[in-house]
Amino acid sequence: MESVQAIKQRFGIIGNDVKLNRAIEKAIQVAPTDISVLITGESGVGKEALPKIIHSLSHRKHGKFIAVNCGAIPEGTIDSELFGHEKGAFTGATQTRSGYFEEADGGTVFLDEVGELPLTTQVRLLRVLENGEFLKVGSSKTQKTDVRIVAATNINMFEAIKKEKFREDLYYRLSTVEIYLPPLRERKDDIHLLFRKFASDFAQKYKMPTIRLEEAAIQLLLKYRWAGNVRQLRNIAEQVSVLEQNRTISYDTLKSYLPDAGSNLPAVIKHTKSDSDFSSEREILYKILFDMKSDLNDLKKLTMELMKDDSNGEKVQKENKTLINKIYGEESEIDYANTEDEDVMEILQVEHQKSLPEPPQEKEDKYHFAEEIQEEETLSLQDKELELIKKALERNKGKRKAAASELGISERTLYRKIKQYDL
Ligand SMILES: Nc1ncnc2c1ncn2[C@@H]1O[C@H](COP(=O)(O)OP(=O)(O)OP(=O)(O)O)[C@@H](O)[C@H]1O
Ligand SMILES: [Mg+2]
Repeated sequence: MESVQAIKQRFGIIGNDVKLNRAIEKAIQVAPTDISVLITGESGVGKEALPKIIHSLSHRKHGKFIAVNCGAIPEGTIDSELFGHEKGAFTGATQTRSGYFEEADGGTVFLDEVGELPLTTQVRLLRVLENGEFLKVGSSKTQKTDVRIVAATNINMFEAIKKEKFREDLYYRLSTVEIYLPPLRERKDDIHLLFRKFASDFAQKYKMPTIRLEEAAIQLLLKYRWAGNVRQLRNIAEQVSVLEQNRTISYDTLKSYLPDAGSNLPAVIKHTKSDSDFSSEREILYKILFDMKSDLNDLKKLTMELMKDDSNGEKVQKENKTLINKIYGEESEIDYANTEDEDVMEILQVEHQKSLPEPPQEKEDKYHFAEEIQEEETLSLQDKELELIKKALERNKGKRKAAASELGISERTLYRKIKQYDL
């Protein structure tokens, strides 16, 4: 039995991906039998090489190999193409004609795009598969043929069956063995290999030096979705090879050839997703920290109020000087005169702001000694808080109520933050 490597060489198949090798191995194994094979996989993955491999490794190799593109033949003529017709079977049928199944007797018929076959043709095909019998169009005389059928499709056959576009019994007949070729994006290690091969082929063809990809461009190649698989990769390699003067291809140059490169990068999307997962996790943590900081400040304020209102306030202060210093800072002193009601202050500030924007330094919280925690990490926390607020406002198109509820803070607090950050 010929090795997978030898077959790849013989049929010009590039790649070392395990799944690709497995598919070729399966084709080699099934080739000597007469089992029907269905090759599946997205468009452009390289399905067409497999029926040829199967035929050439079978005992039918000296027989005919007829490839029929079922999707390209009009519905009105497909039965006649496949099974032939009798003279006078329809207008224009001036003489009897044999179809592909008769022609390929002793050989292989490759039904490409088999999912496109009309239902009536599917019935005829089922019969051939069951007992090798068929009828020419316009004839009632059963004929026999000895044909091995290999079919291929890039559509989801289960969907087609569900939509009653494809007969389930025929599907099971055709797919006694199914060979699946995975999309190119799942064969990452083969992408650059294929590109280099195509680039070298096109350089030869167009008599130009071979293009070479910069590292970032290689990464882009690997991340791209390749919806058109190897066919698309080949086209891109050809375009770049022909059109680019500079034979060293940068990320940006390559990107300009890739349709939807921005939105069509699963790896990048995945990356962004995990990044955003991470950042949303971080956001949650930051939010918890802000909430804690805000709770702490509220507690400080509350304590302050209590100490202020409490007739024993001064006594409490004296007795807890160390603790108070620890919480409010060494220099802190409770400014009784300045501990007005926060709401009143806020309203005043709102009105004041309406008529005359305040310079940022004047927007100090009256409990500045409680708020002014100057550690660097707090500053970066503030940056993050600012970022969160900006994002929430953006997401909610500036609607503060919605933004506040998203941030889990009151509208009033949000307003205070907006002023604090001069937003
Ligand atoms: N592994 C490969 N090595 C070299 N060339 C390949 C490989 N796979 C595919 N190709 C090339 O890519 C192109 C598309 O492959 P092919 O025609 O087999 O696609 P397909 O799977 O039949 O797609 P469709 O479903 O659209 O018919 C062809 O030119 C083929 O030679
Ligand atoms: Mg094809």
